Amino acid sequence: MAWVLQSGCLFSAVLFVLMLFIQGYHRVNSEPTQDKQALLAFLSQIPHEKRLQWNESDSVCDWVGVQCDPTNSSVYYVRLPGVGLVGQIPANTLGQLTQLRVLSLRSNRLTGSIPPDFSKLQHLRSLYIQNNQFSGEFPASVTGLTRLIRLDLSSNNFIGPIPFAVNNLTQLKGILLENNGFNGTLPSINPPSLEKFNVSNNRLNGSIPKALSKFPASAFAGNIDLCGGPLPPCNPFFPSPSPAPSAPPKIIPPHKKSKKLSTAAIIGISIGAALALLLLLLVLCLCLRRRQSKRDSTKVQKPPAVSRTAAGAVGEAGTSSSKDDVTGGSAEAERNKLVFFDAGGYSFDLEDLLRASAEVLGKGSVGTSYKAVLEEGTIVVVKRLKDVVASKKEFEQQMEVLGKIKHLNVLPLRAFYYSKDEKLLVFDYMPAGSLSALLHGSRGSGHTPLDWDNRMRIALSAARGLAHLHVSGKVVHGNIKSSNILLRLENRDSCVSDFGLNQLFSSSAPPNHRVMGYRAPEVLETRKVTFKSDVYSFGVLLLELLTGKAPNQASLGEEGIDLPRWVQSVVREEWTAEVFDIELMRYHNVEEEMVQLLQIGMACVASVPDQRPAMQEVVRMIEDMNRGDTDDGLQQSSDDHLKGSDSQTPPQESRSSPLGVTP
Ligand SMILES: *[C@@H]1O[C@H](CO)[C@@H](O)[C@H](O)[C@H]1NC(C)=O
Ligand SMILES: *[C@@H]1O[C@H](CO)[C@@H](O)[C@H](O)[C@H]1NC(C)=O
Ligand SMILES: *[C@@H]1O[C@H](CO)[C@@H](O)[C@H](O)[C@H]1NC(C)=O
Ligand SMILES: *[C@@H]1O[C@H](CO)[C@@H](O)[C@H](O)[C@H]1NC(C)=O
Ligand SMILES: *[C@@H]1O[C@H](CO)[C@@H](O)[C@H](O)[C@H]1NC(C)=O
Ligand SMILES: *[C@@H]1O[C@H](CO)[C@@H](O)[C@H](O)[C@H]1NC(C)=O
Repeated sequence: MAWVLQSGCLFSAVLFVLMLFIQGYHRVNSEPTQDKQALLAFLSQIPHEKRLQWNESDSVCDWVGVQCDPTNSSVYYVRLPGVGLVGQIPANTLGQLTQLRVLSLRSNRLTGSIPPDFSKLQHLRSLYIQNNQFSGEFPASVTGLTRLIRLDLSSNNFIGPIPFAVNNLTQLKGILLENNGFNGTLPSINPPSLEKFNVSNNRLNGSIPKALSKFPASAFAGNIDLCGGPLPPCNPFFPSPSPAPSAPPKIIPPHKKSKKLSTAAIIGISIGAALALLLLLLVLCLCLRRRQSKRDSTKVQKPPAVSRTAAGAVGEAGTSSSKDDVTGGSAEAERNKLVFFDAGGYSFDLEDLLRASAEVLGKGSVGTSYKAVLEEGTIVVVKRLKDVVASKKEFEQQMEVLGKIKHLNVLPLRAFYYSKDEKLLVFDYMPAGSLSALLHGSRGSGHTPLDWDNRMRIALSAARGLAHLHVSGKVVHGNIKSSNILLRLENRDSCVSDFGLNQLFSSSAPPNHRVMGYRAPEVLETRKVTFKSDVYSFGVLLLELLTGKAPNQASLGEEGIDLPRWVQSVVREEWTAEVFDIELMRYHNVEEEMVQLLQIGMACVASVPDQRPAMQEVVRMIEDMNRGDTDDGLQQSSDDHLKGSDSQTPPQESRSSPLGVTP
């Protein structure tokens, strides 16, 4: 019995080996017939030149351009470059070669789109279809071929967006899309081992994502409006003079700002030379940065390289800088750094800032402000100062002073950037805009008048901010005007911006007409702003708030007026009828308050500086006049902001005199 079992076992074993052999033998002589049918179908349906001849009676693995796997069980490679294929790839032909590893159809005259059944080529490693006339959008079926290593769609007629789904292809080492009609923005394509990348000569615009900025400029050339990364920066903080940072400055085109050709051209030419150098330095800086290990972008880092001594100057801004005397070339790169003051919760660097999309918010007396939207969505205001005369050291010292000022009603300075050619300040973005826009923005339909309570709130909070600057910060604002009073969204409090910058500029510069209306009379002579001249400007601001009229501002286009003189020219009895903003006339029972605030304003614009109250006194007067009100939260004491007040305390008589001032 046992023998029978044993021999049975033996027999089946022999049979098994035999079957294996037969099967193997059979496979050796076979060919992948399904693949063969698919290829025959392909060839029969597509016009082609005569030289491509596949003899049906031969093994498919022997055909020109076809290669099978080692066991001849499926087709692995189809390479048909330049064999004169014409027209569309027929559906359900090549897509059936499910084991295909490489498909090359380059340099034919193929048209139309890639058939959807290409999505079945799940083992495809390389797809070369460059130099054809394929059209339509980026083939959707391709983004599902997750094993793809090389994808070449270049020199076709593809249009539309490059899909973010390309990131599905995690194995990609090369993706070539140049010479097509792809448009829209470039998605962040970031497979870990991407080595070859090219999107040149398409119709892309927008910023180059960080992940792709390691590729050379020629990989992005010839698009509509790509910027950042290896190309010139996107935004106008550093207007891009020419595609090549090192190009000679004289070939600088006026660029996009051709609306204001004359000024733009002059500015462009004058800073062009410096800019080319700066960009070069930036590139250098960024290279260095990348090589250095980690960065902590919210804090200023002390550069690790000891040899770069001058770097300490910027690296230590925020504490003290005393080593600012080395002018070595290698230090230049380190200097070009965004220096942050604490908090703010910001984590971006100069590179991010340069890549941000920017929109001009306004051109002021000290420079142009931009709203910059960073890639990750953070919005900040970047102020690009012009005509700064302060030395680097002076600049940094002043920034240090300004960066320390923290008050609810003072717009905090978050960061600055100093280089020979560019001085940038970074502030929070205040979406609610400025008092100027609120007061003088279009008064047509749809305009919501600024009501009395809000005007009072703005007046008081701006006064508190300014008093804090004077008393705690010991900083003269120097540029009080309604466009520098910004509104906070939450509570309609205001905060003062643009403070303490005067000393960075030359005092011998011709007086700026745009701030003339706010300038105290003595400033026009001495060219020197003081605490008292700030008070004068604030007084004009109060008059503006009450009358709704812009002080002498040529930039507004309409005839400006000298507000203090005009109010004085109207006899007190007529104030209500003549002086106050018509929009305030609808509010009853506020007339007395309006008159009181006007008197405070008139006290501030006294022509003799010593007769003006100190700013903290102005705060107290505004608070006092609201005593009795309960609903507007204006009664919060200002004392906490005024701690440490010393020599700034005004003479006692000025407490009462303002209300007694007559026009
Ligand atoms: C596969 O097919 C090719 C061409 O017909 C032939 O030369 C080769 O020997 C075959 N390989 C195997 C393992 O059968
Ligand atoms: C195909 O091959 C067979 C045998 O190898 C040959 O007889 C026949 O002529 C060939 N056909 C063509 C079209 O070349
Ligand atoms: C990404 O790949 C997965 C398979 O790994 C596939 O299911 C999915 O559809 C692909 N996404 C796109 C957009 O192609
Ligand atoms: C891209 O081009 C197509 C037509 O060519 C157009 O319809 C589409 O709006 C463009 N997209 C972008 C983002 O410009
Ligand atoms: C790109 O161009 C399109 C069409 O011209 C435009 O709508 C879009 O805002 C541009 N995008 C950027 C980032 O410039
Ligand atoms: C990208 O393609 C363009 C056009 O074919 C070519 O001139 C350029 O050298 C390529 N750049 C890279 C980095 O491959």
